Parts: sequence; structure tokens; C-alpha cells
Amino acid sequence: MKTKAIVFDAYGTLFDVNSAAEKCKDKIGSKWETFANFWRTTQLEYTWLRSLMKKHKNFWKVTEDSLEKSMKVFNIDTSMKNELLNLYKVLSPYPEVKSVLEDLKKKNFKLAILSNGTPTLLNELVLSNKLNNLFDDLFSVEEVKIYKPEPRVYEIPIKKYKIKSEEITFLSANTWDVSGGGNFGYNSIWVNRNNSEFDILDFQPKNEISNLTQLLDIV
Ligand code: LAC
Repeated sequence: MKTKAIVFDAYGTLFDVNSAAEKCKDKIGSKWETFANFWRTTQLEYTWLRSLMKKHKNFWKVTEDSLEKSMKVFNIDTSMKNELLNLYKVLSPYPEVKSVLEDLKKKNFKLAILSNGTPTLLNELVLSNKLNNLFDDLFSVEEVKIYKPEPRVYEIPIKKYKIKSEEITFLSANTWDVSGGGNFGYNSIWVNRNNSEFDILDFQPKNEISNLTQLLDIV
């Protein structure tokens, strides 16, 4: 099946979620990375729990709630909260992101983001990193008010582009999101940035890459 659109997850796939805490590592100290990982895990747990409880709250608020808990657990001074949140709005992209998007754009693929992030967050992320003119669409779960991996989220680009699920090549570094998109019917590719193990969730991606550059050989 020919790929008609390439859809990217945002957090962890295009943008480095640990970069906010990393920029404060002098103040946080050597625990910055375990703290950043805990914050991310708590943030994701809150999205799944809220979806199951049918108590949606947008990703910005979930990011703040999970930060508040993580700062308590790691004994980080509350005065750092705003600094960390502001840095989360302008997370850095991974080094190869811009050039790969430019190359894909030249090949005339439709390029989009499909993310838990709010429309405002996604706009600010692409604008602050000068990636805004590379995407056709920034799809947010706010359209359906439930988080990944609920199938209604993966339906958003299908409805907009009027194409089949298997005509979408979907990239995520989050194994559970690769499984979610794959079980939905996408051609899901795992961006295995940290040499990790894949999940056992009824989907095995046909392709696994260690960074986005390798995507150019696949599509
Ligand atoms: C997102 C999260 C899953 O961008 O990383 O949707």
C-alpha cells in the first residue's frame, strides 16, 4: 500500500521531552534525568487514567499536574515550576528532524502531527523551532477530547484526508503509540531512539528505525 500521508507523534518523537529539565540541570542537579523520566511517565499515566475515567483535561493541564506531583517526589523547589513549564512550551526538536521534514516535503508527501498536545501547544512548538511551514496539519486530540491510544484519535487524519488507514505511515518513539496506531490499521513505524524493547500488545511494526533519517529509505 502506497503511503499518502506521513503522520508524526510529537512528544518524544519530534521533540525531546527531557530537554526542559535538561536546560535546568545546573539547578536540579544530577537527578534531573530521573526526574524528567518520572514527570513524563506520570504525565502519560494521567492521560490514560483520565481517558478511562472519562475525565478529560487538556494536555497542558495534565503536564502541569504531573509536574506538580513529580516536583514533590523529587523535592524540587516550587519556584522552578513556571520555568520548567515555560521550557516545555519550547522543547527542542531532535537534531535530524528539520532536514528530514524538508526532504519529505520535497517528495510531496502530506506531513502532519497527531498529538495529545493542545492546538496552542503544537503551534507554539513548531513556530518556536521554525518548523511551521513544513506541516500540512497539526492534529490534536482536543478534537475528540480523549487521549491516545483511543481509536477515535487515530481516525482524525483519516477523516480529514479521506484515505485508508494503511495509507498513513505513522511514526512514534512511544512503543504504546506505535501499537495503538498499528492496531488501528496504520503502517506504524517505531522510532527506537534508545535501543529499547518493543511492547507485546498485538502489533509488531514492519519497520524499526533509530532516528528519522532512516525513514527516507522506507517511504
Ligand atoms: C503525543 C505524545 C504521546 O505527542 O507523545 O501525542
